[in-house]
Amino acid sequence: MKIFIDTADVGQIKQAASWGILDGVTTNPSHVAKALVGTQRTLAALYSDILELTDGPVSLEAVSTQAADIVAEGRKLALLRANVVVKVPLTPEGLKAVRQLAREGIKTNVTVVFSPAQALLAAKCGATYVSPFIGRLDNAGDRGLDVLREIKTIYRNFGFKTEILAAAVRHPLHVVDAALAGADAATMPYDVFEMLYKHPFTDAALATFAADWAKVPGQTSDLSR
Ligand code: E4P
Repeated sequence: MKIFIDTADVGQIKQAASWGILDGVTTNPSHVAKALVGTQRTLAALYSDILELTDGPVSLEAVSTQAADIVAEGRKLALLRANVVVKVPLTPEGLKAVRQLAREGIKTNVTVVFSPAQALLAAKCGATYVSPFIGRLDNAGDRGLDVLREIKTIYRNFGFKTEILAAAVRHPLHVVDAALAGADAATMPYDVFEMLYKHPFTDAALATFAADWAKVPGQTSDLSR
């Protein structure tokens, strides 16, 4: 399963990329606002910095509401770099735009998806990725993972090529469950990314090993003789 970071914070993307396991980035208007509001930076500079950091897919959201405008915006975003994926919201106008962008060979990520029916429509329109917001479903007392599993079954039944991107991931178990359910990718905030590494038993085992190793005479300096 591919691992994406869900942020527009260049420092976080840089850090995650340095760990060698980052497959791509997803952004959204809220992330971009957080990165830009109150600064002198331009959107163009921010996107260029983000796109420099990975060759993996980078989802940049189209914010227009009419199909023709979304298509125009999508074309512009796609020209920024070959790894741009145009994020398009799941609306009738958005899906019209996705179909057109797909015809033009422009990759899309259909976002704000909360039901298998919506995901079916996204796949029929030729979306590259579909993003079910599993954490937001859980927050609303629904079962986000069940929605993801049903999407997986529908896509498998009909051989859709659209990749399932688990989004609004809140904790490591969401990542594990998404992987078990066969999601193609999961996108997560930086703190969840970090949590994936952590286990108290790992820390405890390393502390013991370090303490025992300190008692070993000569340690690794002996090896070079
Ligand atoms: C997905 O691409 C979205 O950016 C994202 O996962 C939104 O999730 P949130 O509920 O953490 O804002």
